[in-house]
Order: sequence, then C-alpha cells, then structure tokens
Amino acid sequence: MNEKFRIASLLHTDVKQTALHDYDVNTAQKVRNYHRSFPMYKQTPLCCMQNTAADLGLGNIYVKNEAERFGLNAFKVLGGSFAVGSILAERAGKNIFDTDYTQLISAEIKNKNKDLTFITATDGNHGRGVAWSARQFGCKSIVYMPKGSVAERLENIKKAGADASITDLNYDNTVRLATKHANENGFFLVQDTAFDNYVEIPQRIMQGYCTMALEAHEQLPEKPTHIFLQAGVGSMAAAVTAFFASVYGENRPVITIVEPLTADCFYRTAKANDGKMHCVDGDMKTIMAGLACGEPCSLAWDILSQYADHFIAFHDEAAADGMRLLARPYGQDTPIVAGESGASAFGCATEIMRNPELSELRKILQLNENSVVLFFNTEGATDTENYNKIIKEL
Ligand SMILES: Cc1ncc(COP(=O)(O)O)c(C=O)c1O
Repeated sequence: MNEKFRIASLLHTDVKQTALHDYDVNTAQKVRNYHRSFPMYKQTPLCCMQNTAADLGLGNIYVKNEAERFGLNAFKVLGGSFAVGSILAERAGKNIFDTDYTQLISAEIKNKNKDLTFITATDGNHGRGVAWSARQFGCKSIVYMPKGSVAERLENIKKAGADASITDLNYDNTVRLATKHANENGFFLVQDTAFDNYVEIPQRIMQGYCTMALEAHEQLPEKPTHIFLQAGVGSMAAAVTAFFASVYGENRPVITIVEPLTADCFYRTAKANDGKMHCVDGDMKTIMAGLACGEPCSLAWDILSQYADHFIAFHDEAAADGMRLLARPYGQDTPIVAGESGASAFGCATEIMRNPELSELRKILQLNENSVVLFFNTEGATDTENYNKIIKEL
C-alpha cells in the first residue's frame, strides 16, 4: 500500500462475541459516579471540528479533549484513580462501586493505608495518574520509566509525589521490573496492562477509562460512523471499543486502532490472526511515546479481536501533522493543544484523507463526505519542548 501505512482488517464473521457488561453504560455510569465524587472532577469538552472535516472531505469530526482531565494533561488518571480506589476499597471491606472519594480520604481509611506503596511502569501519563491518586489517598508511589523518557514527564511524576526514575530498559521490560519489585517488597502493582494472571487491576483501569467514553457518548449530538483510537498496550482503545460496542451492538461505528510503525504489535497480531499475540522488541523509537509498547494487553486484545475492524501502523510525521492541524484548525473550529500520542489517531486519519496515494485505504475504511468521525485527544503538550518545536514547523 505505502511504506508509511500498513493495515490489517478483521471481518468478525465467525467470531462468537462475548458480553460487554464490564464496560457498558450501566458500569460506566457507576465509574463516573466515583470520578464525580472527586472535587476536581469536571467533564472534559467534546469539540466539533466541522470546518476541518469539510476540508478533509468528511461529514463531521468530534474530538474529546482529555488534555483538561483533573489538571493532569491526559486521560490516564481516570484508570489509575479507579484502580487505586478499588484496592483501597477492598482493603476497607467495601465495593468500589459503592465507595467515593470522601470515604477514601476519611482519617480512618487514610491511617490504615499510610504505609501502602503503589508501584508502576509508565511512558509518563499513567505514572503521573497513579502518583497523583496515591497522594490523594495518603499513600506512597514508585514509578519507573523506560529509557529515553523525557525529563519534563519525569519531573511531573515526581511533583505528583512519586519516587520516580528512568531505567535503561524499554517499556515492556520496565513493566517486568516494576512487577518484580512489587513481588519482592509487598508493593501494590498498578499496571495498565494485563499479563499471565494479572488481570483484576488492568480491568479496573480499563473500567476507569469508561468515564471518558460515557461523557463522549452523552455529548455527541449525532451517532459517529467511525471511531479512531490510538493504542499503546491497547487498554484505552479496548475500553472505548467495548463501551461503544455495547451501546450500538451490531450497528457500532467502524472502529480503527492505530499505532506507530515501530510499535505495531496490534497490527502484527491482527494480520497474523492466528490466536496468538505478536510482540515487538527493542527500543521502538517514535515521537508517540505513550504508544511505544511492544506487548499487547491480553484483556485488550480479547476485546479488540472481537469488536475492532481495522488496525493501522503509521509513521511519526502524520502524528506531527495532526498536532499542527489541531493547533491551527480550519475556519472557526476551536484550536486544540494535543501531544504526540494525543494527536496520533487524528493525524493518521488526516493523512489518509489527504494523501492521493491512500485512496485504497479510504475505500477500505469507508471514509467519505458522510462520515462522522470521533477522536480522543488523550494528552495535551506533555513534552513542551518537542510540542513547540513541532508546532513551529509548517
Ligand atoms: C497520551 C496517551 N494516549 C494513548 C495511550 C495509549 O493507551 P494504552 O496504553 O492503554 O493503549 C497512552 C498510553 O500511555 C497515552 O499516554
């Protein structure tokens, strides 16, 4: 097709689909009640980009802007705060669905948990969310980052209260390091990816992301025909996919998962479609730091293999173009500050619409002037220096 874009599609004709009640509207409403109990909760905006859509040859574009979530510049805290809360609720003999922020910050619960340590590995946003959540509830946190992580992201995690450091390992091996230290020291691992028998916490994290999906669903004035979702380990993409699949059933929007070319584990797994997950090793260099993950979350693949339609691996420059177009959209559309991972899906779809060499892709995805496309800007400028450098370029 084009060495900068690869696509694998799944037909789902003979797939027996599993129930989605863990991510349906009912569950999402309960999760949102939990998030609403935080004093800093505010619904993030859904921006309509009608002029930009018209210029690209699309019917309409909506961007859910998570840069404003809890003042932390990314959606990830939705998952971390729900998982940390669920651990604390369980220790207090309660169910997270019947527990709120006020109960978790009560002197009684805080006192019981003051020596607890949560540990995680992160490209930046997830670790910041876990550190912030641990501090809210009077607990400690340790955060490891992969080699090459940006100093600003490390500093923000430290400011959120964590003992944070950059390792000389890639993302997936940093996850293994955090897991090892959790097991050796009795820390609680709050990882946003499922592996072996580690599924309960990642599932809580995915449920946490349902708040974002539910808000978007309620804010949308029309049904989206397409949803584009960026994937690192795939937990966010799977939670949103499961939510919208549960809302729309067989009439769900066309769901496309996008990843950097260098970290294309979902593309490889979908292409092989042999019941196994296909991983990527090495440094996975990409500007989309939040998506530089080589091993799919097993829970995420279980959902995406049943409900996502297309898997695209694409090049960094399209993500950078996406950042620029969101910063300087057409006509009266509201400018959006989107980081490299945040703008990735939007940038991928933008180039698919604009590049004459990608007409075949447009056909496969059924993208045209009647399409109503939903994106999630999952982060603001979390690496300010790189953001400013990219935005300055034409
Ligand atoms: C900004 C941003 N967007 C998207 C993702 C992808 O989320 P997931 O790892 O659940 O696929 C991440 C992951 O860190 C991220 O930081």
